[in-house]
Amino acid sequence: MAKINEDLYYDLAMELVRDAGKVLRESINGRKTITEKLSNWDLVTEYDQKIEDTIIGRVKKEYPNHKFIAEESTGKNLPELTDDPTWIIDPIDGTLNYVHSFPHTCVVIGIAVKKEMVIGIVYNPILEQLFTARKGQGAFLNGTPIKTSKIEDLSKALVCLEVGFMKAESMRELTIERVKAVLKEAQGIRTLGVAALTLCYVALGIVEAYHIEGPGISTWDIAAASLIITEAGGVVLDRKTGERINIMKPRAIGACNAKIATDLFHIIREADSKVIENNK
Ligand code: IPD
Repeated sequence: MAKINEDLYYDLAMELVRDAGKVLRESINGRKTITEKLSNWDLVTEYDQKIEDTIIGRVKKEYPNHKFIAEESTGKNLPELTDDPTWIIDPIDGTLNYVHSFPHTCVVIGIAVKKEMVIGIVYNPILEQLFTARKGQGAFLNGTPIKTSKIEDLSKALVCLEVGFMKAESMRELTIERVKAVLKEAQGIRTLGVAALTLCYVALGIVEAYHIEGPGISTWDIAAASLIITEAGGVVLDRKTGERINIMKPRAIGACNAKIATDLFHIIREADSKVIENNK
C-alpha cells in the first residue's frame, strides 16, 4: 500500500527521536553546560539546543513548508497554530532530571495537521520506553498496545503533580493548596519533574491522573502525550474550563477516564478558590 503523508512524517519523526535519544543517553552522565532560564529550577543545556536544532534542520530539509513549535526556539510567545503540518518539539523534557542523571527524562515530538494532533512520540532512552500514538490507531509502549487504568474511585488513584512549582513565588500558595487537597482525596501523590513522560504514565495505566500547569510549561510539554493518553482510552481536560484540552493553552489534567478527570478538576478548582478567597 502506498504511504500517505502522515506515514512519512511518522517514519521521519521516529528516526529523529531515536537519534535524539542516542544523544540524550550518551550525554546524561557527562559534563554539561547548564544555563538557567526562569530560575535555578528551570534549566537548559547545550544538548537541549543541539537536539532541537538537529530535529528542526532535518525536517526543514525534507519539508520546507512545515511549521515548528519548539521549546528552545519558539520563545515566550507561542505562534498561532495553523492548518499546516506543525512539529511540536521538546528536545529534552525533564532537563533538571537529565542534569542530575535522574532517569526520568525524554525526547518529545508531536505533529499536528489541520490543528489536530495526529502523531505523538515520547521517548525515554534511559529506561528504553518509547511511547507512540497516531490518531485513531491506538497508543503503544515499545510497540505493545497500552490502555489507561480502569480505576474510577479517586481514593484508589495515584495522582501526579509538580510540587516543584512551589519554587515560583507566584505559584507557591496555589501549589501547596492543590497538593493538600489532592493528597486528602487520592490514595497517593507522586511528582516526577517531567511532564510528557508523566502524561505517558497515565496512558500506560500506572498513574491514574496528572495535573500540569505552571511557569515554563507550554504546548511542547503536553501536545504529543495528550494524543498518547486519548489513544490509550484516557481524557485530557483544560484544567480551567473542564473542556477538552486546547494544546495552545497548556494547563492540563490528563486522566485515565472522565470520572477521575472531573473529580480532580473540581478538587483543583476548589483549592484555587480557597487561595483566591484568602488573598482578597
Ligand atoms: C520541565 C518539565 C517538568 C516541570 C518543569 C519543566 P523542561 O520541562 O516539564 O515537568 O516541572 O517546570 O520546566 O524545561 O525540562 O522541558
